[in-house]
Amino acid sequence: MGENKVTVEFVEDVALICINNPPVNASGVVVRQGIVDALDEIKAAGSAKAIGLYCAGRTFIAGADITEFGKPPLEPGLPEVCNILEDNEIPIVAVIHGTALGGGLETAMGCHARVAVPTAKVGLPEVLLGILPGAGGTQRAPRLAGISNALDLILSGRHVPAKDALEMGLVDRIDDGEPREVALAAAKDVVVGTLATRRTGELTTTPDDAAIETTMAAVQKKHPHLISPQKCVECVAASTGDFKEGLAFERARFMECLPSPQSKGLIHAFFGERAVANIPERKAQARDIASVGVIGGGTMGSGISTSALMAGLPVTLIEVSQEGLDRGVATITGNLDGAVKRGKMSPEKRDAALAKLTASTEMESLAEVDLVIEAVFEKMEIKKEIFTKLDAICKDGAVLASNTSYLDVNEIAAMTRRPQDVLGLHFFSPAHIMKLLEVVVGEKTAPEVVATGFALAKKMRKVAVRAGVCDGFIGNRILGHYLKTASYLVLDGAHPDQVDKALEGFGFAMGPHRVGDLAGLDIGYMTRKRLAATRPAEERYGGAIADRLSENGWNGRKTSKGYYVYEGRDTLENPDLNAIIDEERARAGITPRVFSDEEIVERYMTAMISEAARVVEDGIALRPVDVDVVFLSGYGFPRFRGGPLHYADTIGAAELVKRIEAYAQEDAHYWKVPALLRKMAEDGGSFADLNKGK
Ligand code: COA
Repeated sequence: MGENKVTVEFVEDVALICINNPPVNASGVVVRQGIVDALDEIKAAGSAKAIGLYCAGRTFIAGADITEFGKPPLEPGLPEVCNILEDNEIPIVAVIHGTALGGGLETAMGCHARVAVPTAKVGLPEVLLGILPGAGGTQRAPRLAGISNALDLILSGRHVPAKDALEMGLVDRIDDGEPREVALAAAKDVVVGTLATRRTGELTTTPDDAAIETTMAAVQKKHPHLISPQKCVECVAASTGDFKEGLAFERARFMECLPSPQSKGLIHAFFGERAVANIPERKAQARDIASVGVIGGGTMGSGISTSALMAGLPVTLIEVSQEGLDRGVATITGNLDGAVKRGKMSPEKRDAALAKLTASTEMESLAEVDLVIEAVFEKMEIKKEIFTKLDAICKDGAVLASNTSYLDVNEIAAMTRRPQDVLGLHFFSPAHIMKLLEVVVGEKTAPEVVATGFALAKKMRKVAVRAGVCDGFIGNRILGHYLKTASYLVLDGAHPDQVDKALEGFGFAMGPHRVGDLAGLDIGYMTRKRLAATRPAEERYGGAIADRLSENGWNGRKTSKGYYVYEGRDTLENPDLNAIIDEERARAGITPRVFSDEEIVERYMTAMISEAARVVEDGIALRPVDVDVVFLSGYGFPRFRGGPLHYADTIGAAELVKRIEAYAQEDAHYWKVPALLRKMAEDGGSFADLNKGK
């Protein structure tokens, strides 16, 4: 085996092992076997006094091959390979460039010394995939770096720069140069004794019970739903004992995590965030975007401007009045100051970004920009006026985007003589923080304009998801549907606080009423008014309670009162809420009934899945995974559940159909079985099959 993914080279009295498994040198079975074979070959040759192990391409081993997870194990396993490296008679020095992550760092820790190039980073991000470092990482990291550093590394999953890794003791030296040259020099230094080597497993860990206790309490509080963080702490705690026993303890904990639905959900999220870039337009040449115009200095426009500035792009901000413009500039400045405070940006970078901001009350200032994002009030008439003007002002080839969250992008594009250059770029508030960008593709949008939207998202470090045109696109369309369920649950007998707590128990960061209060209840109020005329007669109206709150001026956090009352940092009961609920139930002739938390979650999730299935069926989302990523990056969906349609597969189409049919007994208009789901139930199919193109 080996397939030339692992090669050996002898230079004088040292040997070099090179791993070459693009794109990220994941340590799949071929690499693992290749390493074992390479060590055998070097031993048989008998000439080498030290070995340098390095990688070709852009990075050191970036981890175990995640695609092998969940499949029958292929020998030799990574734990075994790390032990074989450690037991090797001839000392081995690992040379790290790019990122040594997970199984990559574990491999390096199995070696007898580590040298990093200055730009290298190391980390143990397994916890982010619902597992733990299971190839000795939890036993070797504390032996090299101490308990406290190991806990930080393993529980945060963060990428630690070489300099810090050196300070922690994870690496022994930093040398600049090409990995092969560094490996050759390091191996020679081992031979002459200027680079010390030892077996990590022979070191001891100094106990630190205080760090273990504090960290355990912190993870139980921060991640009550997750199983792997606590197991990580237990494993690190075990590193003060016998090394072999520690490895066995770690292996057992790892095997408890690997098959868990949480780990499957987190791995689905990892690959999903990459899969969404696979769009029909991916081969089109994106246009160069060297400058951006933003129309509207409200929260949205300012957030988008901030995001573009943080990506290094010059921004021209347009507002109708000088006052509005000043407010916009102040918001952007505040956003950038916030980024500095959170350590996301240096003060110098902030100053450089602000220097690239131009503010103007004249739309004509957009004549030369490469891309314009309109982010004004959600009224079709205003948008049409703006796009007519943009058509007259902007240079040929400029991309014209609307940040509308539900309006018809085709209608907006039709106001221009260049509908091929128009698309929707739907950011989520606060736009400089939220990861999601829905790229809304109109009937006439050119492929290179779609590709430009995706390229812009990448520059802004956002996750772009391709969406078709419909009211609300992917996310808000589904949201509009399942929020009705939340309102029906309250009308029928559940309390808003119970609904919130049940869904927080499921894993959402905040329940829908808390989110409503945060976003502002006036937004939903306006949407209900807008849609009132088109609401079908058979549709049950769920907005009565929320309407009453808004009509009282209780629009949530910004008015200190909504479903809850907000006092400083405290969230309290709204003492007036129950009376409103009782009145609206009485008005609708409802005798309230008791709902279990389980039923609340079931109904809410079934509603979400139903509309999500229709969004896939209608081709608004390319695949189920696109819906999943929208919810994971824009709607606070619990990542460990993988997204609504990954979660749907864990329930199964047949069960979902059964649920919908049962609910339809009460409300046949709202609860309808999506054709796609019915077909899946009949054929035994799944959303995962659709992701694979089956
Ligand atoms: N196993 C299998 N495939 C992997 C992988 C792994 N550990 N890490 C990355 N890949 C794949 C990606 O899916 C992607 O495939 P695609 O091009 O078909 O979409 C490709 O390698 C490149 O990865 P990408 O993330 O797009 O590149 P990047 O340069 O932005 O980031 C990393 C590189 C290594 C930082 C990033 O991929 C990463 O964090 N990987 C996971 C590391 C990890 O968790 N390791 C621990 C596992 S034990």
